[in-house]
Amino acid sequence: MDATDSPAPGTGPAARRDLAVAAAVRQGLVTEDGQPLAALLDVRTVRDAAAALRTAFDEVTAPGQEVLHTFAVKAASLVPVLRLLAGEGIGCETASPGELALARAAGVPARHTVLDSPAKTPAELREALDLGIAVNADNPQELHRLDALVPGRAEESLRLGLRVNPQVGGGSIGAMSTATATSKFGVGLRDPGAREWLVRAFLDRPWLTRLHVHSGSQGVPLDLMAEGVREVYELAEEINAAAGTPRVRVLDLGGGLPVDFTSDEPPAFGAYARLLARTAPGLFDGRYGLVTEFGRALTAKAGTVLARVEYTKTAGGRRIAVTHAGAQLAVRTVFAPDSWPLRVAPYDPDGHPLTGDPVPQDIAGPCCFTGDLTAHARPLPPLTPGDHITLLDTGAYYFSTPFTYNSLLRPGVYAFTTSPDDVHFSTVRAPQTVEEMVRESGG
Ligand SMILES: Cc1ncc(COP(=O)(O)O)c(C=O)c1O
Repeated sequence: MDATDSPAPGTGPAARRDLAVAAAVRQGLVTEDGQPLAALLDVRTVRDAAAALRTAFDEVTAPGQEVLHTFAVKAASLVPVLRLLAGEGIGCETASPGELALARAAGVPARHTVLDSPAKTPAELREALDLGIAVNADNPQELHRLDALVPGRAEESLRLGLRVNPQVGGGSIGAMSTATATSKFGVGLRDPGAREWLVRAFLDRPWLTRLHVHSGSQGVPLDLMAEGVREVYELAEEINAAAGTPRVRVLDLGGGLPVDFTSDEPPAFGAYARLLARTAPGLFDGRYGLVTEFGRALTAKAGTVLARVEYTKTAGGRRIAVTHAGAQLAVRTVFAPDSWPLRVAPYDPDGHPLTGDPVPQDIAGPCCFTGDLTAHARPLPPLTPGDHITLLDTGAYYFSTPFTYNSLLRPGVYAFTTSPDDVHFSTVRAPQTVEEMVRESGG
């Protein structure tokens, strides 16, 4: 494991998941006649990821260099998760008024909060400045809105930056590639005249002290991400040289560390931090404060969707297991299965690992469209009604951000901790009720 101790046999993430699934079934978090679906979140895995992130940067930063790690709230927009991470010293990167409200509800202090959305209204910008949270403007028009809001405010209370797209190129998933030539985010650094405009923008605004880059996400190779960071570091050096003073004082490096969806291997925070240190050594000599905004890498491995198998059938010779977990929880996997394959682990009616000779099976969800499959022709022990399936690595951008298709109810989310003879669950989000759904739907 990266920057954390190897787990003792039987206590690693897979063993904890097995314990949690059996306990969830035993304790009735999923039942035949009640809730057919639940989401489980391993507290230990989240804490381990947070520790690995801190250690990774501690190992490359200069003594006393300020580093603020924030969590991209979009990855798991659940207040108890933000609170858990805040307890690990991790703040919040927010990208909407709703996410900011969640961060505040979790008690995350303003000085640990960043607002990054690409479409902020004047009211959102004013609120952010009033609260004293860091804001990264996305584009010249947004910067002009800040020009109008800044006068009269104490400069020390402002933590304002500008997002730059280093245009270094994309990765294997187009929709996750933020640093392409035509990406909608930030100011395109390689566009004609952009570099000169950026330098001028900082020289003209003594209160503009940060540069922001988020150069990739799942599917983007680490060296491309690091190259994007280096480009923005070099821009900071150029601005500061032109200003004759350290005008850019903080570099926000974004998030984007990919997750391995094929194994229990934890995200490579240490390898990425070391790569950054090799690619842009000046980042870590103590002259700049740093901010990170990792999302998926902090929580994905901690999440498991647990669903009862309601029916099994065959069609055209294909075996199909019909479950309650589909596009409403696994939007990306269902609509872009080649980019977002998930591991499926099967369990028996008591929640114990299911064994048997694997045969290809489709794992279907409950949504009324044909493509609602979370796995295609997956070799698994033959499933029968009453068994369970789990969708692994779903702690980011899955059950925390459900889709309301078919008015399917949001499942309960339960954080768990394990001890040798017990699994303790606490409710992160209660299962949505039919009454709540009707009310939210205008009823
Ligand atoms: C600005 C910004 N920061 C951080 C993140 C988090 O990315 P990831 O979950 O891949 O770490 C995103 C994701 O979209 C983002 O847009």
